[in-house]
Amino acid sequence: MAYNCRVSASEVVLSAEGLAKRYGDREVVSDVSFALHRGEVFGFLGPNGAGKTTTIRMLVGLVKPSRGRVVIDGHDLGTDFEAAMRRVGCIVETPDLYKFLTGRENLEHFARMVGDGAAGRIDTLAALVHMDGRLDGLVRTYSLGMRQRVGIAQALLSDPAVLILDEPTNGLDPAGIREMRELVRRLAGEHGLAVFVSSHLLSEVEKMVDRIAIVHRGRTLAAGTLAELTDGGKRGLEDLFLELTGGETV
Ligand SMILES: Nc1ncnc2c1ncn2[C@@H]1O[C@H](COP(=O)(O)OP(=O)(O)OP(=O)(O)O)[C@@H](O)[C@H]1O
Ligand SMILES: [Mg+2]
Repeated sequence: MAYNCRVSASEVVLSAEGLAKRYGDREVVSDVSFALHRGEVFGFLGPNGAGKTTTIRMLVGLVKPSRGRVVIDGHDLGTDFEAAMRRVGCIVETPDLYKFLTGRENLEHFARMVGDGAAGRIDTLAALVHMDGRLDGLVRTYSLGMRQRVGIAQALLSDPAVLILDEPTNGLDPAGIREMRELVRRLAGEHGLAVFVSSHLLSEVEKMVDRIAIVHRGRTLAAGTLAELTDGGKRGLEDLFLELTGGETV
């Protein structure tokens, strides 16, 4: 399927530099930096309250950073907001779907907002997320896994270079988790998307990602390939994670 193919090794497609977010007198994100490459799955790992969702909200323009810079596909989010936003699709926490519309009606609705030929991509995207044949059911009758997959199709309507998913396997059963993992791998490997996945579920993420960053108390403490960070697999990711985060949640 020729949906989207622009694979090119190690091309940075999203960079975050020194991101910080203050709410009142509390800084919930203090220093988050990483680079995301085309065609890779990047895991953003941290305990509850580490600042993952807040970081994602900054990456997709839902909240304004107090400090730092985000560049998406060459567009600075601070100075070139709309162009940067056109290059990123996301699901923050849960997919934003109308329950009393069908999957197709939801996609048609969002396609109208996106414009730019998005409606013509609906069937291809439905097949890509394995929802062809189910798209005419009401969203309220979908399983969580189906809603997540329609949410991903929705996020891809604008043909972005980056897909950002906040805890995409939360609440899914083992079959749903596997389906999500395979979809994410396919989007990166076959379609050249950079996929950013936040999670605190290490064993799931381990099977899905090429590189990771570990975030704790609003700071990225380590970043690299799994092999680099685990010393070629000599130490477990869980040991590293607990050592860096002190085993605490905030
Ligand atoms: N709008 C807000 N106002 C004040 N504090 C906030 C706001 N949003 C988040 N926080 C605080 O910021 C901290 C980080 O929250 P965030 O949701 O980013 O963490 P997280 O890593 O996504 O956690 P989880 O794994 O539980 O989803 C938390 O202590 C949270 O209470
Ligand atoms: Mg969160």
